[in-house]
Amino acid sequence: MPPPQFLELDDIHKRFAGVHALRGVDLSIREGEVHCLAGENGSGKSTLIKVIAGVHPPEEGRVRIGGSDLDPVTPLESIRRGVQVIYQDFSLFPNLSVAENLALNNEVEQGRRIVRWSRIRATAREALARIRRELPLHRPVGELPVADRQLVAIARALLHDARLVIMDEPTTALTQREVENLFTVIENLRAEGIAILFVSHKLREVLRISERLTILRNGSKVAEGPTTDFDERSITEAMTGRSVRDEKFHYTAGPGARPPVLEVEGLGRPPAYRGVSFRVDPGEIVGITGLLGSGRTELALGLFGLLPAREGSVRLDGQPLRIRSVEEALAAGIAYVPEDRLTEGLFLEQSIHRNIIASILPELAGRFGFLDFARARREVEEWIRDFGIATPNAEVPAQSLSGGNQQRVLLARWLARTPRVLVLNGPTVGVDVGSKEAIHQRLRALAAEGMAVLLLSDDLPEVVSNCNRVLLLREGRLAAEFDESVTEETLNAHFAETAGTAGV
Ligand SMILES: Nc1ncnc2c1ncn2[C@@H]1O[C@H](COP(=O)(O)OP(=O)(O)OP(=O)(O)O)[C@@H](O)[C@H]1O
Ligand SMILES: [Mg+2]
Repeated sequence: MPPPQFLELDDIHKRFAGVHALRGVDLSIREGEVHCLAGENGSGKSTLIKVIAGVHPPEEGRVRIGGSDLDPVTPLESIRRGVQVIYQDFSLFPNLSVAENLALNNEVEQGRRIVRWSRIRATAREALARIRRELPLHRPVGELPVADRQLVAIARALLHDARLVIMDEPTTALTQREVENLFTVIENLRAEGIAILFVSHKLREVLRISERLTILRNGSKVAEGPTTDFDERSITEAMTGRSVRDEKFHYTAGPGARPPVLEVEGLGRPPAYRGVSFRVDPGEIVGITGLLGSGRTELALGLFGLLPAREGSVRLDGQPLRIRSVEEALAAGIAYVPEDRLTEGLFLEQSIHRNIIASILPELAGRFGFLDFARARREVEEWIRDFGIATPNAEVPAQSLSGGNQQRVLLARWLARTPRVLVLNGPTVGVDVGSKEAIHQRLRALAAEGMAVLLLSDDLPEVVSNCNRVLLLREGRLAAEFDESVTEETLNAHFAETAGTAGV
């Protein structure tokens, strides 16, 4: 007999000004089940999670948790029934220690007036023991890597007697190895009978970890069932309503056919990376990949002047270039798209329009400093159309967009500059499969116009299908280089080897 249903949603509707975000959605999750919620950007996944959490009360429909209806659905009642949501920002206190973050709520809930550190440490240890992890209890949470902060958030959720832990895109900011750790934690929770609902755009992860899945399209449920009934193709088709095929990129010019755009010689900023040499010709899309600690992000930040390199040299179109600041990088035509849209990227309260034109303002202002409004509007509208940014108009604030649509706005901002060298860090993190294709097409078109593109990514299918060369960094050094015939299997084998030498 299957375990009883823990959560049942029935015919849920939710509207925002002008947007019917959920149109009669049903969802059911059994006790101890790992359930995945899939759907394109803007299909209503985060909204559905907020309905369960009581953040957005539904306008119609029924929410049943633990066998009885919630009426009304409030955040407090949802938590009382055992629902814990781990949001993308984790809602932790960065300047408090791990132990304080873990134990604080308990102390307050139990109405303790006197803080006893021994008790706080004991609570914190107990929480971490349940996910079978050790973390430095006294360290401020803000100093921990993202993956560890996430573990603190999960451990804290368990202290509230969670029966269902919900994670919205929990793997987007994690490297492959950290994803493996998270999956082990999820397996352990499942073994304790705790259900998990999670959102991911990485279909391979979905297929591996979840037992059942529910697929949303445009605010409606279009499919559900045991994960074994699905494969990548059928999930994609259900999500998009069409079949999507990302074809492989071919670099037509051939190596050395044209003078290089970017030449990097012995570049270093020890201990992060050192002795890195490579060149990028016009029209090339060169992938840079490597595990956590490989130094690839630091290298990218070096090229963009955020963490200037201390050794070696850079030439741009044959001319020596010193990149000591972001201003110098931008002036030379180097653009960098950061991975973390939430903290580094967008001006959330500002309109989409402003976010996109932010980087080309000087250009639009022209010689006398007058803004060419008509041209700005045309440009912004082109980007919204090309990237399929789902919005009623360009004047709405970026924060009203779904996560994946925010990511596209960020990308549009940097591409609008048409730089000489474009450095992209995880450009399609959080973007659904159908739209990834559109973004990849756009990158290829830009490369074809002669731009040099550096693509940093953990997403091996993305690297393999879009790059004509792939550089592998290991512990700050270039460890291997592959041509366009490289396969995911080869790269994976190199990762395994790296993990082995690192003693993990
Ligand atoms: N606070 C809000 N105000 C106005 N519209 C909103 C708000 N929150 C969500 N929406 C709209 O509701 C729809 C569903 O958004 P939601 O964030 O649930 O999508 P999602 O499936 O989580 O997408 P993603 O994969 O990009 O994160 C979108 O059209 C979005 O613009
Ligand atoms: Mg979302």
